[in-house]
Amino acid sequence: MWSKNASLAGGTLSLAGIPAAQLAKEFGTPTFFLDEDAYRARALAWHDGLQSEFGTYAGTVYYAAKSFICTAVAQWIADIGIGIDVCTGGELAVALNGGIDPKKIEVHGNNKSVAEIDRAVSVGVKTIVMDSLFEIERVAAAARKHGVRQAVMLRLTPGIEAHTHEKISTAHEDVKFGFSIASGAAWAAVEAVTTHPELELLGVHCHIGSQIFGSEAHEIATDRLIGFMAKYRDAYGKELPELDLGGGFGIAYIDGDVTVEPSDVLPQIHEAVKKACAQHNLAIPLVSLEPGRNIVGPTMFTLYEVGTVKDVVVDGGKVRKYVSVDGGMSDNARTALYDAEYTAVIAQRNSTAPLALVRLVGKHCETGDIIINEIQLPSDIAPGDLVATPATGAYGRSMASNYNHVPRPPVVAVKDGKARVIVRRENEADLLSLDVKE
Ligand code: LLP
Repeated sequence: MWSKNASLAGGTLSLAGIPAAQLAKEFGTPTFFLDEDAYRARALAWHDGLQSEFGTYAGTVYYAAKSFICTAVAQWIADIGIGIDVCTGGELAVALNGGIDPKKIEVHGNNKSVAEIDRAVSVGVKTIVMDSLFEIERVAAAARKHGVRQAVMLRLTPGIEAHTHEKISTAHEDVKFGFSIASGAAWAAVEAVTTHPELELLGVHCHIGSQIFGSEAHEIATDRLIGFMAKYRDAYGKELPELDLGGGFGIAYIDGDVTVEPSDVLPQIHEAVKKACAQHNLAIPLVSLEPGRNIVGPTMFTLYEVGTVKDVVVDGGKVRKYVSVDGGMSDNARTALYDAEYTAVIAQRNSTAPLALVRLVGKHCETGDIIINEIQLPSDIAPGDLVATPATGAYGRSMASNYNHVPRPPVVAVKDGKARVIVRRENEADLLSLDVKE
């Protein structure tokens, strides 16, 4: 759960040699601390893993910006040399601001606006992933307007129930994303794209869900997408050069969980690609992936300060200790949304006190503002203690809100014993800056 440069030695937390107490003193709480080396290593592990497993068939690792992006991280991505998947004009703007080569940008989204499409085409992104028939017409119009031939992919729905939370499962039939293979919608999309000489159909894409373990679901998706590519070859007499299998690789959040490593899944996915291509007598396409959570998730923890502690008698005499910290569902919406599980430690001191049943809650005005529903923490936990929750890098800061007019926390990158702000803390002026006074 903890990133590679985090240490819990002696019962206190430090990151790249800096104790949590010092981090809190310098940057305040709540704050997301990002282990830069760990981030770079995880991004590179996917890149190197894809290269070494697929060799000449290695496509691109497109880091899924939705998991977390800011300009500094976009600069790291440009530096590492991987690609990026953006799904809004905002994410595209950050990628460009970070200096990412448009030829390494892939644009997603099930309802891209005309303005978003126009920007993507005009800056020359590598590919736009089509998600509806309307969009095919809109991208073709933008390509005509800019006098370019735009490369596109088709997002397909392979009809897979990936074993994850329903709200983050994306490739069964009854979803808003993609073109269903089974219903014929995918084939209609091929026909629509091929009527437009200003569009170049590069290949097919799927994303089957998030926080998935094992490679089985990706293998089934591979088989169905390659079957579809064979159908295309049979009809058009040429092969589609690219296959993108999306992201979704799971990480550890609590004790006993494991984080999927590239070497745990890439050989199996490669086998599935080879097998399906052999079966259909197809050349192996360039294979790309879009991991988000798996790269950034394990590289951050959130540091909070405890404000109040309250013993509440529940269920016939059992005591639940409600520990309130200075953030909550505005910086971690995942527990409230997906019943996600996290763990936590007291970060700045070692405690040998007996454990108590704790519910870690935030400062928002609603009962569902829970970060951890049930956890055993030292019973002497008290106001002023620092509490750290690991593995908050993905869909934490990126899904943060200003609910209750709480300023969103900063992100501080830590490397080689030095810490620096890469996203600053919001303040009262930021909150008021959007309001128009009557
Ligand atoms: N590619 C596409 C097209 C996606 O829609 C997503 C995630 C990814 C890649 C990256 O998936 P990852 O590797 O991060 O699992 N907010 C939810 C997760 C939503 C994921 C949406 N799409 C959560 O906090 O669990």
